[in-house]
Formats: sequence, C-alpha cells, structure tokens
Amino acid sequence: MVLSRIRRCELLLLIFTGLCKPFSQSNMCSGIIENYVAAMVLSGAGDALGYNNGGWEFCKKGPKIHAELAELGGIESIDVEKWIVSDDTVMHIATAEALVEAGKSIEPSHLYPLLAKKYKECMKDMKGRAPGPTCIMNCDLLQPEIPDGWVIPFHKAAGGCGAAMRAMCIGLRFPRPEQQNDLIRISIESGRMTHHHPTGYLGSLAAALFTSYAINRKPTHEWGKELLDVLPLAKEYVKSAGRDVSQNMNAWSYFEEQWRSYLGKRGILNGTSLPIFPEQYDVKKRDEFYASVSYSGWGGSSGHDAPMIAYDAILGSGDNWTELTHRAFFHGGDSDSTAAIAAAWFGSMYGFKGVPKANYKKLEYRKRLENLGKDLYYLV
Ligand SMILES: *[C@@H]1O[C@H](CO)[C@@H](O)[C@H](O)[C@H]1NC(C)=O
Ligand SMILES: *[C@@H]1O[C@H](CO)[C@@H](O)[C@H](O)[C@H]1NC(C)=O
Repeated sequence: MVLSRIRRCELLLLIFTGLCKPFSQSNMCSGIIENYVAAMVLSGAGDALGYNNGGWEFCKKGPKIHAELAELGGIESIDVEKWIVSDDTVMHIATAEALVEAGKSIEPSHLYPLLAKKYKECMKDMKGRAPGPTCIMNCDLLQPEIPDGWVIPFHKAAGGCGAAMRAMCIGLRFPRPEQQNDLIRISIESGRMTHHHPTGYLGSLAAALFTSYAINRKPTHEWGKELLDVLPLAKEYVKSAGRDVSQNMNAWSYFEEQWRSYLGKRGILNGTSLPIFPEQYDVKKRDEFYASVSYSGWGGSSGHDAPMIAYDAILGSGDNWTELTHRAFFHGGDSDSTAAIAAAWFGSMYGFKGVPKANYKKLEYRKRLENLGKDLYYLV
C-alpha cells in the first residue's frame, strides 16, 4: 500500500532522476531518500563541528574560531572522527526514535509518552556533551509511565534553544501541507516537555516547519513569512490544549516580534522579495548581528534566535556548504545548535552535494542517524 507506492516511486526516481514532484503537489515522494538521510546525518555533523568537543560552542569570538579553523586547514580538511556529537544530536535522535517507534499511531496517548521516555533516557548519554540546564531539570520531571506524565508546568525561564535543536526530524515526518496540524501540535508538545515557554517551544515549531519546507524545496525567502502565517494556528492550538493558557498567552508576543523585526531587516516580510544583506557581513559583523537578535547577548541560545541564525545562514549561503559552515557553525554564539538546525535544512534541500566526506563519514552515531532518516522516509 503506502509502502509499495513509495518504493515504486523510488524506483521511478532511479529512472527519471529529478522528475520527482514535491509532497505539496502529489503523493509522490519529493525528498528522495538521500535527502532524508542527509538531513539527519549532516545535522549531526554540523553539531559536532560547531561543538568541537566543547571548544567552539562556548567560544564567544567568531574571528578566533575562524583563525583556528584556518589553522586546521579549513572545513574541507576536518575529519570528524574525534569530534563527538553534543546534546543537540542525542536529543534529536531521541525525537526521531520516538517518531519511528510510534509508527502511524501519532495520537497523544501513544506518541507523547514515547517522546517523554526517549528524552528521559537520552539524558544518560550526556557525558561530555554539555546538556542544557533546562533540559536536565525538566527531563527529570517527566514521568512517561503514568498518564499525562509528559506534562510539565509553564516555566518563565524556559525560552532556551533546547526544544528547537531537536525538532528538525518532525518536519521530515510531517512534510505534507495536510499534515501541518500534526506538525504544529507535535513540535509544540515535544518542545514543551522541557521548554514550556512560547519562546522555547515555538523554536521547535520553526525548526520543524522549515525542515518541511526544505524537503519540499520551497524557496527559502518564503519561509519566514509562512512562519508568521502559521503562528496564529499555533496560538489556537495552545489555547485549545488548555494548559497554563494565560501564562502562555502573556509570554507569546516576544517570539513573533523578534521574527517580524528580523524579516523586516532582511526585506522578506512579504515573502516575495529576495533577502538583502549588509554590504559588509564578515565574521565580526555577523557576530554582532547574531548578538543583536539574541535575548541576552549569546546569539542562537534561545528558541527564537537559534532557528533565526540558522535561517540567516541558509539564506546567505544557497547550496554552498563551506559558506554555510562559516555562517551557521562557526560564530561567537551557540554555534552547535544553529549548526545542527541549518545543516538539517541543507541536507533536506541539497543532500550531500558538495559536502566533504571527511566532514561526516566517521561521525559518531552516523549509522543511527542514517537509519532514522530512512525509517522516517518510509513512514511518510
Ligand atoms: C515586498 O517587500 C519588499 C521589501 O520591503 C519590497 O521592495 C517589495 O516591493 C514588496 N513586494 C510586494 C509584492 O509587496
Ligand atoms: C563557497 O563559499 C566559499 C566560502 O565563502 C567560497 O570560497 C567559494 O568560492 C564558494 N563556492 C562557490 C562555488 O561559490
């Protein structure tokens, strides 16, 4: 049935490479399987590269990172063998494993306890991976074995990027326009299992939504405006879910205001024009810009600016992997999170095109990521 249809589609693809239609137009596959695999694997590679065993995630100076990168021979020379993945990838794997285990049964009573279980379990694999304090604290609160044990209370300081950095695979699982309500609901609920604050869980929504756009090859300059159009639906969902509604509504506006302001600066509020970048936008200027859109000076560490900086990098790099790494992986902010998100979008759109093999071949957990990409593909 569905499976055989997809397999047939793939076969056709082998014959008529490039003729595949996007999900939005038909039942045929778009994101051919390699794009699913690349999205998962490159996200892990971006995370490992941006993290550099902790050395670069926490370095606040982009120019210093770029000088060290040059000394290593540039991105083309980096073999990731000894570069472990950080908390971002471990939690992204947890999300993907829950989606795969749930299979077609995505109703809350089945999927949400699975997600909670995976998040709780993955905390045992955090040695040397710098998990965020919000994730540590709230995974501890999760009780996947009891009804509604996946629900945690609103938290006014849970606006960090920990929900966004692990949500890309939700876009791979729900890429079709008619699946958008599931994407909204599941990105928000999985997000607020640790980050019950709109700035946190709307980051999860943005990371998932843009992955669904990437796999459908929607032109990148349209994504931002579409996010603004989806936010009212997200708000309706949160109201209808009925948990801590007034606190959520009181904290709602920040995310949207920040995105509106950013899109205005790039001239893409209406989704029809191409983005405009400053004439001078080198490493130092980007650091300044990333800090300026951040909540407290560390660009990319919040739910609104991690996907925003990843998006800025994708807009400015096109299909150039080297340029993407310069903008999204190596900067003075929370580099591994913006890297994990941007690289997932790159892989969704361009596969492994132009990516040096050394950057991902010996990546820790590569096989797991690869298999999850395939499993997600066959589930759609
Ligand atoms: C969209 O916005 C850009 C930048 O503000 C503007 O130049 C352009 O004319 C607008 N296009 C439409 C169709 O409104
Ligand atoms: C890709 O980006 C790098 C870094 O900015 C640049 O040196 C290279 O020329 C670009 N490649 C292409 C094909 O534009």
